[in-house]
Amino acid sequence: MSKFDHRSNGRSRTKPFAIPLVVLCLVLLFSWAQAEGPGKYVGQETCLECHDTVAEVAFEFTAHGMSDISGWDGAAGCESCHGPGEAHSDSGGEIELILSVTRLEPEAVSKMCLSCHEGDVAAHWQSGSHDAFDATCVDCHTVHEKRTMASSAVNKNTSETCLSCHMDMRKHLYQRSRHPLKEGLMSCVSCHDPHGSPAIASISAITPNDKCYQCHAEQRGPFLFPHQPVAEDCTTCHNPHGSNQASMLEPAPPRLCQSCHLFGHHQTVPGTPRQAWNVNRSCVNCHSRIHGSNHPSGVMFMR
Ligand code: HEC
Ligand code: HEC
Ligand code: HEC
Ligand code: HEC
Ligand code: HEC
Ligand code: HEC
Ligand code: HEC
Ligand code: HEC
Ligand code: HEC
Ligand code: HEC
Repeated sequence: MSKFDHRSNGRSRTKPFAIPLVVLCLVLLFSWAQAEGPGKYVGQETCLECHDTVAEVAFEFTAHGMSDISGWDGAAGCESCHGPGEAHSDSGGEIELILSVTRLEPEAVSKMCLSCHEGDVAAHWQSGSHDAFDATCVDCHTVHEKRTMASSAVNKNTSETCLSCHMDMRKHLYQRSRHPLKEGLMSCVSCHDPHGSPAIASISAITPNDKCYQCHAEQRGPFLFPHQPVAEDCTTCHNPHGSNQASMLEPAPPRLCQSCHLFGHHQTVPGTPRQAWNVNRSCVNCHSRIHGSNHPSGVMFMR
């Protein structure tokens, strides 16, 4: 409310200046339009007469090329993103006379794309890290060129697109235990929404656990004897990107288990080598139903 008051006060204070200001703007706009305005729409055929390289990369087979996109004032084709191109065409290609996306600020690029993509990707875009760190739509999408079948506008292979910036994640592709990203059976967007999401780390589900349950329903329970940290957060014990321990555990048992269970009915600190605590699957040698048990005597997760 107070913000509203402040704004309306501000407005009434500037009122005496408003009319000259509007006139000034109109004059400026008029003279700009006269002197170097972009002119009218000329249609995609005209653009392609000079920009045959865009035709060569098969623009007509991209989602934009194939659909009847229409932008400002019902412009079609190239001009629905680049604006009216009459002056640019007549001048033989003066770059100042066309909306050049390459020269726009990152925010303006995304804004241009979102003017049509309100419905599908805009919802959480501004809350995501990509917008916050000035990554734009065209860092991941090629608009003129169809490169992949699945989502025609994404660069190369989806995970490779992500790894071009998230280089620290590449090591996970080669670890002992990991999701099948390298094989292309899954990709980063199996778990993340690159356009932002309401969950942490832009996970494309309400919580990370809900994401895991989509494919690992058997760990969801309900169990007669649940292991408390499981329902809380799978990533307490697993690194979803991969690890060098079996089952993507991090750190390896027994250390993982000891981080919460140090003293109990039996010692959990490994002593001499080849004890049951630290050989093979370690604690899980005995506590094998570690996510929870439905056995009447499963209270210790052993059956
Ligand atoms: C008469 C030939 C001609 C026509 C017609 C033409 N262009 Fe161009 N255009 C050029 C030339 C030449 C350049 C400068 C290329 C360069 O500098 O690499 C250019 C550059 C551009 C650029 C890049 C600006 C930049 O900052 O690098 C865009 C975008 C563009 N044109 C879009 C269009 C669109 C959209 C149309 C149709 C409305 C169109 N052009 C019609 C010749 C033409
Ligand atoms: C969906 C929006 C969109 C449409 C439709 C579109 N462009 Fe572009 N254009 C872009 C973007 C975004 C860039 C900047 C590319 C980048 O940064 O990678 C661009 C860049 C360009 C450039 C500059 C050279 C370059 O690649 O950076 C030219 C020339 C161009 N477009 C011409 C065209 C022509 C001709 C058409 C129609 C056949 C067309 N564009 C259709 C969005 C579009
Ligand atoms: C003038 C309106 C318009 C603008 C501006 C626009 N798009 Fe689109 N876009 C469309 C339409 C229409 C489709 C096709 C939707 C469909 O098939 O459901 C589409 C489809 C897409 C797709 C899906 C491709 C696929 O193969 O499924 C991507 C990705 C995309 N646009 C990215 C962008 C990016 C990035 C920009 C900015 C450079 C942009 N769009 C600007 C209208 C637009
Ligand atoms: C960090 C990389 C990245 C950025 C940045 C990005 N996208 Fe995407 N986008 C993708 C990937 C990957 C897909 C494919 C998603 C899939 O296969 O489920 C996609 C899919 C799409 C689709 C297809 C429809 C859908 O929801 O799956 C549209 C439309 C789209 N993006 C538009 C945009 C627009 C507009 C922007 C900028 C505001 C943008 N994207 C920014 C990576 C990105
Ligand atoms: C142009 C570079 C770039 C590309 C390409 C890119 N990212 Fe990012 N991403 C960033 C930056 C910068 C951040 C913010 C800093 C950070 O967390 O490292 C970020 C953050 C993230 C985060 C943390 C999100 C959060 O909200 O905490 C996730 C998850 C992510 N990116 C996933 C992806 C996925 C999936 C792809 C591929 C579809 C992708 N990124 C492609 C630059 C990129
Ligand atoms: C199996 C699901 C899954 C896949 C596949 C996946 N992630 Fe993640 N990612 C997560 C979860 C869950 C988190 C949150 C981790 C946490 O809370 O410790 C996360 C966190 C992140 C973060 C932010 C925190 C950090 O560790 O820096 C980035 C960046 C990220 N992922 C990038 C990627 C990239 C890039 C890919 C593809 C190479 C990818 N992820 C594939 C589930 C996944
Ligand atoms: C899109 C489906 C999908 C999602 C989402 C998913 N997974 Fe997986 N997960 C798989 C597949 C497929 C395998 C089997 C990989 C194999 O056998 O190579 C697997 C295997 C695993 C394994 C065993 C790895 C091994 O080496 O035995 C663990 C642990 C795991 N996932 C944890 C998680 C966690 C934690 C999450 C949530 C952050 C998650 N997964 C989300 C599909 C998924
Ligand atoms: C308290 C630590 C812990 C938590 C939390 C946890 N896990 Fe596990 N998980 C393990 C251990 C230990 C193994 C290895 C079991 C074995 O070797 O028998 C494992 C194995 C797995 C496997 C591969 C073997 C199998 O049983 O299919 C999958 C898949 C898996 N976990 C998914 C999940 C999911 C999904 C969640 C979250 C709902 C989760 N885990 C939470 C400790 C945990
Ligand atoms: C993040 C902390 C955490 C980690 C890591 C963890 N646990 Fe637990 N565990 C708990 C909690 C909390 C309980 C419930 C304790 C209670 O009810 O008194 C529990 C219960 C148990 C119980 C049943 C004990 C009882 O009194 O009901 C066993 C057995 C057990 N955990 C074994 C393991 C093993 C084996 C590992 C390693 C694979 C492990 N835990 C990792 C927190 C953890
Ligand atoms: C050789 C089989 C075996 C191995 C290996 C084993 N346990 Fe146990 N654990 C048991 C048995 C049997 C009980 C039940 C003891 C009782 O009820 O007095 C138990 C009970 C527990 C309990 C619950 C009782 C309490 O003290 O609160 C926890 C927690 C536990 N184990 C953790 C671990 C951890 C952590 C490891 C790995 C370092 C581990 N166990 C390895 C057999 C094993």
